[in-house]
Amino acid sequence: MKVTNICCIGAGYVGGPTMAVIAQKNPHIKVTVVDVNEARIAAWNHDDLEQLPIYEPGLDAVVAEARNRNLFFSTDVDGAIDAADMVFISVNTPTKTYGKGKGMAADLKYIELCARQIARVSKTDKIIVEKSTLPVRTAQAIKSILHNTGNGVKFQILSNPEFLAEGTAVQDLMAPDRVLIGGEQTEEGFKAIQALVDVYSTWVPDENILTTNLWSSELSKLTANAFLAQRVSSINALSELCEVTGANVGEVANAIGKDSRIGPKFLKASVGFGGSCFQKDILNLVYISKSYGLNEVADYWEQVIIMNDYQKHRFATKIIQTLYNTISGKKIAFLGWAFKKDTNDTRESAAIYVADQLIDEQATIAVYDPKVTAQQMESDLNYLGTRAEEENERFLMAINDPYEACKDAHAIAVLTEWDEFKTYDWQKIYDNMLKPAFVFDGRGILDHKKLETIGFQVYVIGK
Ligand code: UDX
Ligand code: ADP
Repeated sequence: MKVTNICCIGAGYVGGPTMAVIAQKNPHIKVTVVDVNEARIAAWNHDDLEQLPIYEPGLDAVVAEARNRNLFFSTDVDGAIDAADMVFISVNTPTKTYGKGKGMAADLKYIELCARQIARVSKTDKIIVEKSTLPVRTAQAIKSILHNTGNGVKFQILSNPEFLAEGTAVQDLMAPDRVLIGGEQTEEGFKAIQALVDVYSTWVPDENILTTNLWSSELSKLTANAFLAQRVSSINALSELCEVTGANVGEVANAIGKDSRIGPKFLKASVGFGGSCFQKDILNLVYISKSYGLNEVADYWEQVIIMNDYQKHRFATKIIQTLYNTISGKKIAFLGWAFKKDTNDTRESAAIYVADQLIDEQATIAVYDPKVTAQQMESDLNYLGTRAEEENERFLMAINDPYEACKDAHAIAVLTEWDEFKTYDWQKIYDNMLKPAFVFDGRGILDHKKLETIGFQVYVIGK
């Protein structure tokens, strides 16, 4: 079977870039990305490519090439599903905030809605592809909904988890380490798998396309994220030990990373990992393990999250203690709010939690981030529900100039590793701050010797 018409439900950080690349690489396939969020679709269709709803280096060029050629963004969800022979589900699957599994399990509400909508609208056979990260055996639930429509339409379900990292999405999609496709181990299942393999093989070498059964594919995605997050929590756990023993976590990471069995990546100590995936996927793994009575397995993975929460808390506490245990009324400048550089995504960003703890002590937080809007910062803080929205407004200020954000501050905290922070005129920043002037480098990116020579008091995670 040859796919000629793809629909992707969900025009977010995963669906948008992924479909843009699939369309660019397959000019003969019509790709329509649909979303219920009208503003988001309007932004994807904006003439000015600076206005795309997500910031990803290189994405504008891909969109410019394929958009309105064979890549379309629309709010007509039903129409796009009906016309497609392959439907990707790429909607959000947040952690549940209510009921059974609250704070742990994935909320499958949006997935189920999609499945029901597909069931209702479809008049021809379709291949349904799970793109969102989902708990193991979700495919089973989708299948059961689709197969009970009773109108004779046949569906094949595939799992095709996306491994792109934000900030490097285009590069990751162009040259993926691997593409993973899971499907039913039946004749029909193999045909569906092959149809999706053909979509990717226009640019991904065959040896990088792995095919498995459905459950292996679903579990591999959770496992990959759990392993990556575990490395960050492991090095962060060591960062505190380095601080008290006089070791340097950067040197330790470099030394262990030279061991080819360990490898050098994902060993950067930080103020804690964020992003929409790591925490959610591990909580999911913990929940699944518990639900099968595997308590030791659950506890093992949960520790990765516990360590990460501790690291964010430890950084905020360090700031408070260093500023003489009193930060009420003091201005503290944040450089960065996004969960990592080169993205405007702030989901689970460490900055939100550090700000929350400092605002508890009535500090004023002045944030500069090159890509995050003031509105987003406010909504992130309000989402925690720690205090009234007016209070948050009083203590959190978004400032669109870094020098202005740091002016008259008692301290600067680096929360995101944006490259531009390294290029600033740090003498000028120092001259305009209150003294002693403190820098808390939560990402270990600045030239600390130079800062000390200027006169800053510098704290670096893991040093
Ligand atoms: C992650 C996975 O990498 C990706 O494969 C999956 O598809 C989605 O989840 P993402 O969350 O976009 O991607 O970014 P990633 O680069 O993994 O970073 C996650 C967090 O870990 C960030 O907050 C980052 O700053 C932090 N991190 C990463 C560290 O603190 N230290 C490191 O060494 C690496
Ligand atoms: P991700 O990072 O996984 O891409 P996002 O939250 O950025 O997650 O994107 C998911 C998108 O899916 C959102 O824009 C949301 O509006 C959209 N969405 C959720 N449910 C539906 C649905 N039933 N139909 C269409 N779009 C949906």
